[in-house]
Amino acid sequence: MKKDVFLSREDEDISRCFDWKEDMRCGDPDIDADHQHIFELAQHLRSVSIRGRERIVVGKALIDLMDYAHSHFQREEALMQSSAYPMLEEHRMEHAALLELIHELHRDFMDGKAIGRADVWRLLSRWVQHHVLSTDRALVLFVRQSR
Ligand SMILES: [Fe+2]
Ligand SMILES: [Fe+2]
Repeated sequence: MKKDVFLSREDEDISRCFDWKEDMRCGDPDIDADHQHIFELAQHLRSVSIRGRERIVVGKALIDLMDYAHSHFQREEALMQSSAYPMLEEHRMEHAALLELIHELHRDFMDGKAIGRADVWRLLSRWVQHHVLSTDRALVLFVRQSR
């Protein structure tokens, strides 16, 4: 049963960071579609966790985000390899750090803790935005210029 709760100002602020905006596009349709879906999955996870939905619903949302982020990172890393992208290692390290944040949420969840801890969400929201707007854009620009 869905339980609507009052969202704090901080919750609303963080939640808005996971809203996809058109100006977040990198210029590669496949990568942009992946990013849009990641934002939707993160928004969904945050929504079901802070609204106190059933454990199975939250767990499914968390696994869906982890799986999709992992496969998206693999697609980008394959593109970097095939394009001989010079910043591959730095980019890959950011992916690993982002995955670690999601794994941290999963560990909290498996330990029975609430996963709506604001500090982790704040970090994840800023990092996702930073990565898309800066790191991924640089990759797409390189690939387009090298074709
Ligand atoms: Fe990336
Ligand atoms: Fe990406």
